[in-house]
Amino acid sequence: MTDLLKIRGGKPLEGKIKAAGAKNAMTKLLVASLLSDKKCTFYNVPDIGDVEITVNLCREIGSEIAWDRKAGVLEIVTRELKTSYVPQRYSGSNRIPILMIGALLGRTDEDIIVPTLGGDLLGMRPVDLHIHALQKLGAKIEYRNMKKEGAYFAQAHQGLDGAVIQLNYPSVGATENTVLAAVRARGTTVIKNAAIEPEIVDLILFLQKLGANIMVDADRTICIQQMTRTFEVEHTVLTDRNEVASYAMAAISTKGRVFIEGAEHLQMIAFLNKIREIGGGFHVAKNGIEFFYDKELKGGVHIETDVHPGFMTDWQQPFVVLLTQAKGASVIHETVYENRFGYASTLKEMGADIELFTQCLGNKSCRFASQSHHHSLVIKGPCTLKGSQIVIPDLRAGFSYVMAALLAPEESIISHVDYLDRGYEDLTGKLSSLGADITRVPLPKKHLEKAKASLHNMVAAQSKEPCAPNY
Ligand code: UD1
Repeated sequence: MTDLLKIRGGKPLEGKIKAAGAKNAMTKLLVASLLSDKKCTFYNVPDIGDVEITVNLCREIGSEIAWDRKAGVLEIVTRELKTSYVPQRYSGSNRIPILMIGALLGRTDEDIIVPTLGGDLLGMRPVDLHIHALQKLGAKIEYRNMKKEGAYFAQAHQGLDGAVIQLNYPSVGATENTVLAAVRARGTTVIKNAAIEPEIVDLILFLQKLGANIMVDADRTICIQQMTRTFEVEHTVLTDRNEVASYAMAAISTKGRVFIEGAEHLQMIAFLNKIREIGGGFHVAKNGIEFFYDKELKGGVHIETDVHPGFMTDWQQPFVVLLTQAKGASVIHETVYENRFGYASTLKEMGADIELFTQCLGNKSCRFASQSHHHSLVIKGPCTLKGSQIVIPDLRAGFSYVMAALLAPEESIISHVDYLDRGYEDLTGKLSSLGADITRVPLPKKHLEKAKASLHNMVAAQSKEPCAPNY
């Protein structure tokens, strides 16, 4: 909330950056380390807000942590738990508190108390799949109303027992929560229809080093044996595929050329296919991927966001900005979240030609077919974007606004930069090094209340289509 970004666009991004470690892996790895009292050392740790939040939370739980932010090295050891109560201020900040249940069930006889995730400005975040799966393992979980909000109370005084769990939907968080609990459950747990995102595989690699026996089958089945002994772990966090995709799209849309050191081909297959389909250029080198503008970009693509190995939902917002520079109409069908197009109205104000639909505009009918949410859009390009004053409502929308500002020759002023800090390491530094005209300035105090009110109004206005929160 405290800083503003000033961006004057119209310049191609050129140069080289190093990709950070993955936010969606590192935050979960910290939680997973709570399963044991042994030291865990992580390398390639991103210096971002969500890691800082998780570090603070783990410290409150009892972890001793040494984090060399510059070197990207973090050591954590949790010899004993000080508390199993997740303070209210962490709820709603990100998806981490709910994962504390899975990690701590096998570590403490105390109640694990997690205040509700929902109830904040940006809409509901269901955790039904998490709760059902943990209950299937024998956890006793109930929701109790407290003074202001409610909280989940969870315990497994009799221990957990392995079970066969069929997820109705391959939720990333529910899969992670179940895996974390299952490593401490007696016998074998089988998760069917599990999510198999690269960050989950990274979590599994970490758990195997920690002492777990886990199998991932080709048909979305994860098999977990009880972990009976733990070891010290050294683990290098995988690259952030969302950061890679974000800079890739910024490079191509500005007609630039950017080499992203550390970008991993295997994580990016669905993304690279779409980049090639619209005429964007890329070259996979031995230590990263170069992205570049090759020829006139052409629209006419159809993108359906999906669980891995499909086209990731976090890529669609910046891809829509990329498509403002492509000739022709394209269709995006969001099938993972029902409410992830809230950002489109700001892009329209900046000059994008976007139309929203409640129908499934795609090859398949998705879970939201009979609902009234706008979850498909048609974007027509090319269009000229103009600078604007923008309030960021969430992380991925935030980057798409930055991209739009990089395309507009006039100055844009972007507030709520803290959302970007949560997931993008040194955004201003990296974009400046690529030649962007971007400066970060403290938000004058007199504008603070105005910015808060503006965000509140924006979310209220979009209450039918709220932006997804900080995923
Ligand atoms: C994670 C990622 C996020 C990514 C998403 C999908 C992190 C911190 N965030 O979020 O960047 O966009 O995966 O790849 O890793 N759902 C339920 N009930 C539940 C849980 C989820 O209905 O109990 C629904 C959600 O509302 C959503 C869909 O399932 O519509 C996907 O959610 P999920 O896969 O759980 O995403 P997250 O783990 O929250």
